[in-house]
Amino acid sequence: MAEKFGAKSTADEVLSGINLKGKRFLITGASSGIGLETARSLVSHGASVVGAVRNLAKAEPATASVRDAASQGGSLELINLDLASLQSVHACADKLLADGQPFDAIIANAGVMATPFGRTIDGFEVQFGTNHLGHFALINQIEPLLVDNGRLVVLSSLSHRGADIDLDDPNFEQQAYDPWVAYSRSKTANSLFAVEFNRRHRDRGIRAASVMPGNSLTDLPRHFSPEDLQELLQTVDAAHRSGSAAERVERNSAGSRNVGLGSSRS
Ligand SMILES: NC(=O)c1ccc[n+]([C@@H]2O[C@H](COP(=O)([O-])OP(=O)(O)OC[C@H]3O[C@@H](n4cnc5c(N)ncnc54)[C@H](OP(=O)(O)O)[C@@H]3O)[C@@H](O)[C@H]2O)c1
Repeated sequence: MAEKFGAKSTADEVLSGINLKGKRFLITGASSGIGLETARSLVSHGASVVGAVRNLAKAEPATASVRDAASQGGSLELINLDLASLQSVHACADKLLADGQPFDAIIANAGVMATPFGRTIDGFEVQFGTNHLGHFALINQIEPLLVDNGRLVVLSSLSHRGADIDLDDPNFEQQAYDPWVAYSRSKTANSLFAVEFNRRHRDRGIRAASVMPGNSLTDLPRHFSPEDLQELLQTVDAAHRSGSAAERVERNSAGSRNVGLGSSRS
């Protein structure tokens, strides 16, 4: 591939001239933000996309733009998946396995960031449970559906540098909850999962990667106060204007007490 892409390349630019007819993708969290745009771009290039979403009533209208963009045989279907419930995860996996249609790529995109303390239905801290454990359970169960030479892409974040996983206290039972430490831990887990999945399945030609998708203003900071969001945006903007790398954006953000990142170790 001779094309060079950079931080501002769009999904459509990357897929320009590529026909994905006959290719099938699973995207978690296709109802918003990066997952929605990924689905739109893939179906507009002919791919069949299964969007796994936690709220079908919200996702149906939210993904109208994806269906409108479909061309060259591209299509979108939705399936219910609440990553914060292992029962829902297994039900989704069972349905996909019963359907039996293979995937050329799985994109583990869904996520929550810096939420107030909460637990998943199964009692795990909500960011670790949603971002990592739900995906871990889902993807390992449906791994037989991933074709030989298939791809797994796990959306991580540069925030993974903020904290390692704490296997002694993954649910913040022995320490004060910090929403950013919890997010960082979950993103470290996302990255390590991709590394290990890649190692375990490379004999089938499968490649797994975790990615930092860049900084995009999506619904991700939905728990921020307007003041905290404003501060984060100013930090990102200042870093962009000074021409610095995305890494510096996250590091600067991590130093900002007002956006609650002060305890990050990055
Ligand atoms: N945006 C950035 O700058 C940025 C930077 C670094 C990493 N990331 C990563 O990129 C990924 C996508 O984030 P985004 O920015 O597109 O955020 P977003 O707009 O908030 O989208 C997140 C998606 O995840 C879904 N989701 C949340 N909890 C779920 C659950 N329990 N079960 C199933 N789906 C669930 C949401 O569903 P609803 O629509 O129902 O809420 C939504 O579709 C995340 O993993 C995030 O950590 C983003």
